[in-house]
This record gives sequence, C-alpha cells and structure tokens, in this order.
Amino acid sequence: MKKETFIKDIKERDRVKDVFLVARKDMGISKAGKPYLNLRFMDSSGAIDARAWDNAEAIAKGFETGDIVKARGYALSYRGVIQLNIAAIEKIPDGESSPADFLPSSRLKPEDMIKDLDRVVDSVTDPSVKALLESIFRDPDIRRRFQLAPAAKAMHHAFIGGLIEHVLSICSVVDFVAQHYRKDLEINRDILLAGAILHDIGKIYELSYSSSFDYTDEGKLIGHITMGVELVNKKAAEIPDFPDHIRMAINHLILSHHRLLEYGSPKRPKMAEAILLAFLDDMDAKMAALRVMTEDCEEGANWTPYQRMFERPIYTGLLGEAEDKETQRPEPQEQTKEEKAKPIPDLSALGDLGLFKGEG
Ligand SMILES: [Fe+2]
Ligand SMILES: [Fe+2]
Repeated sequence: MKKETFIKDIKERDRVKDVFLVARKDMGISKAGKPYLNLRFMDSSGAIDARAWDNAEAIAKGFETGDIVKARGYALSYRGVIQLNIAAIEKIPDGESSPADFLPSSRLKPEDMIKDLDRVVDSVTDPSVKALLESIFRDPDIRRRFQLAPAAKAMHHAFIGGLIEHVLSICSVVDFVAQHYRKDLEINRDILLAGAILHDIGKIYELSYSSSFDYTDEGKLIGHITMGVELVNKKAAEIPDFPDHIRMAINHLILSHHRLLEYGSPKRPKMAEAILLAFLDDMDAKMAALRVMTEDCEEGANWTPYQRMFERPIYTGLLGEAEDKETQRPEPQEQTKEEKAKPIPDLSALGDLGLFKGEG
C-alpha cells in the first residue's frame, strides 16, 4: 500500500488517512473516567503522538505495537505539539507495505544502488566468479532483500539499504587498494570483489526489517557468516563444474571477514585478499558509524558523547576543516600503460593453498 502523507508534513487541521508504524500503544483513562488509546506512530520522516477517544477498547483489539496500520483522523495542536485524533485504525496485512516508508533509510535510492552493484558484478573478469555473482543476484528474492537489508541492527549502517550501501562503499575502495598493492602482491581483484559483495550477504536472512530491526531466529541460531557460506555453496552447486578452489576462496573471505576468532570469525584471514577485506570491512563500518555519531553531536561541540563502539569519545573539532582543504588534495596518479596491461593472476593457483586445513 502506497504511503502518501509523511509525519513531518502533517499540519494542524489536516485530515489524515494513511499508513503508519505503531511504535507505542497503551490505554489511558480520561479525566471523565473513560478509557482512551494512547499511541505513537512512526514513519521514515519522524514520529507523532495519536489518541483515540471513542471506542478505544474495540479499536485497540485490531492491532499491536510493531504493526503497520491504516489510520483515519485529523491533526490538532496540543500544548504547541501536533498530534492526531484518530477515528479508525485497521491493520495492514504483512508484506503489503514498504519497509522503507517506516524505517530509517539510506540517503541513496535502492534502485540506483542495485544498478551500481550490477556494474561492479559486470566488471568481474573471471567467468566462474562472475557466473556465481550473476546467479545470486538474478534471484529475485535475494535481489529484493539485498536492496532493503540493513547492515547491522545498531552498530553501523543500521538503516534500510544499509547493507548494499556498505558493500558498494567497500567495492569502490577495492580497486584502489588492489591496484596500490599490486606492485608488491598479485592481489586477485575478482576474489576480493566477490568477497566484498558477499561477505555480509547472510544478513539478508539474519536480520528482520519489516517493521523494526531485529535478529531472526535463524540469525540468532546460525548467524550471517555461516548463512553466507551456505548460500555460496548452494549457488555454486547449481553451476556445472564450478571450480572448487574458487568456491573455497570466496567462502574463506566470508568466514574470516571478522578478522579475529573473538570477533566471531570461525577462521582468521589466511589470504592477502581475506586480510584486506577484513580491514576494509572494519574501516567502512567504523567510518559509517562515525558519520552517525558526528551527525548526532550537539551543535558546536568538539567531542561526541562516549561511544561504545570505540570505547571512547571522539574528537570532531577538525572535521569541517577538511572541506576547506579539498582543493589542495593531490590528484590521483594515472595508471601507466604497463600497469593497466598487467594480466589478472591465474585463479587456479589458489587451489593449492591448502586453506581450511589446520587450526584457527
Ligand atoms: Fe559481518
Ligand atoms: Fe561488513
């Protein structure tokens, strides 16, 4: 069901007939001793209090906190704050509304981000890696979930579209990093890209995001790392003669991307691509979390409040100055012809690495 009125646009005396997420629902007793329904509605633009004065008990039976409802009423100003006076509420069946209308969402459009992802997949040169990625993102259910999923419940990219935003952000650094270290190491761009794209794909099933962000039962019991490996194995098995060493390398990048055993990685990174991915993932998560921390920072304050993620407050006093110096930044150096022509390393070499043998 299409949402038309957003909370931030509701003005006094507006007639409202639209869909909202019920963030709070409780009963109160009016001064006249009559029960009334005390509600808080939410959508992606904000939150608003709402009251139902008539038939409160009957209306309350039709929905619960966390449901998406269609509400009819009008807006009034109470002590200078706009609230809704509700005449009727009806629960909207699951799946008939768009989560992006009710939950905080990426600043970027999901349809643009998925096109960017398709372009990244297109740039992969190894036919097997490309076939695997294409078969995963051709799946309509995966494609839809991948555009909507947050990257985390709270720590970083905790918004609709957060996962794909996080993935694209890492992918855009991959080329720079792979190129930069190529003079020392034959970084395999295709494997690193596949790992960047797939490392958190299990999150499309680990997190639920229809009316609030939470872990699914499978997410709590299995977790996104194992779920990602399961997905890769399933999709690789559907491709005739899919090379085992490529499946194993991509799985290793997924399994080791949390870098340390105590951070939830069943394996520590044991390939250059896996080591790079684990750092890039951590860096991107921290930068995105910092962005939110500084946005939430009080106007004019030079420090954020204490941050659990960093176990310290963060100094933000110099952040604005970077913009002024933008123009002085050195231009990135052009690749030489020889660098451009450098062949992509042969993936078959990965087959002999003996990954997954041994401990930790
Ligand atoms: Fe992860
Ligand atoms: Fe990640």
